[in-house]
Amino acid sequence: MTGWLCIAGLGPGDEHLITPEVSAALAAATDVVGYIPYVARIAPRDGLTLHPSDNRVELDRARAALTMAAEGHKVVVVSSGDPGVFAMAAAVFEALERQPAWQALDIRVLPGITAMLAAAAKAGAPLGHDFCAINLSDNLKPAALIEARVRAAAGADFAMAFYNPRSASRSETFGRILEVLRQQCGPERLVIFARAVSTPEEAIHTVALRDATPEMADMRTVVIVGNAATRRVGRFVYTPRSALPAAPP
Ligand SMILES: C[S@@+](CC[C@H](N)C(=O)[O-])C[C@H]1O[C@@H](n2cnc3c(N)ncnc32)[C@H](O)[C@@H]1O
Repeated sequence: MTGWLCIAGLGPGDEHLITPEVSAALAAATDVVGYIPYVARIAPRDGLTLHPSDNRVELDRARAALTMAAEGHKVVVVSSGDPGVFAMAAAVFEALERQPAWQALDIRVLPGITAMLAAAAKAGAPLGHDFCAINLSDNLKPAALIEARVRAAAGADFAMAFYNPRSASRSETFGRILEVLRQQCGPERLVIFARAVSTPEEAIHTVALRDATPEMADMRTVVIVGNAATRRVGRFVYTPRSALPAAPP
């Protein structure tokens, strides 16, 4: 078999944040597969076929990519940010689990800079101590589980990064999450709304939880909530590495 499959992260938007390893895989590829806006970031060239597909068809997309690799194509499946963070790598492995014949293929995961790390770097160092990442989309898990995880993370005094915070189809959910956070963390806790990081539309705002509103986030925003020790220093926000865990409630 001469085909291969790379599952690659394109980073948050700026092409300078694409790793050389990912650029090399794209330069060698015969086929690029992915969600429409991510494939649109790949420059067309002779010998390269682009396969954009709609959202919410991750498993079909993974199967199509694996089928092409098994036929001898050199395939890159692209995700934004990192492919292992709420993205295509897990979908490819799910397809592999269901079709063991594909497990002999040459498959590699190529990391990228995930949105929360790009956002944290712009803000300062809000993830400098222990933190977690939670996807607020209820497409693949129940809303009650999301709320339980937010309560648990806030209760353990993790800084938190929220992906997919708010969409048109679930505009209420993020307001509810902000309410839970205000109860758990109090009104002074710092929240960073980082939109379209590393693109020309980038906008980064830091507010106290008291002043945070659902409208401050959309699907191009990653939201970072600090822990109890997170604070401002000049125009930056950081979480000291020496922060002690909050006393249990
Ligand atoms: C399906 S997830 C994909 C995450 C991606 N794999 C990553 O590692 O960043 C999409 C969410 O990532 C976040 N996101 C992706 N790119 C972003 C950017 N440039 N600025 C802010 N948030 C971003 C948003 O929360 C968005 O709703």
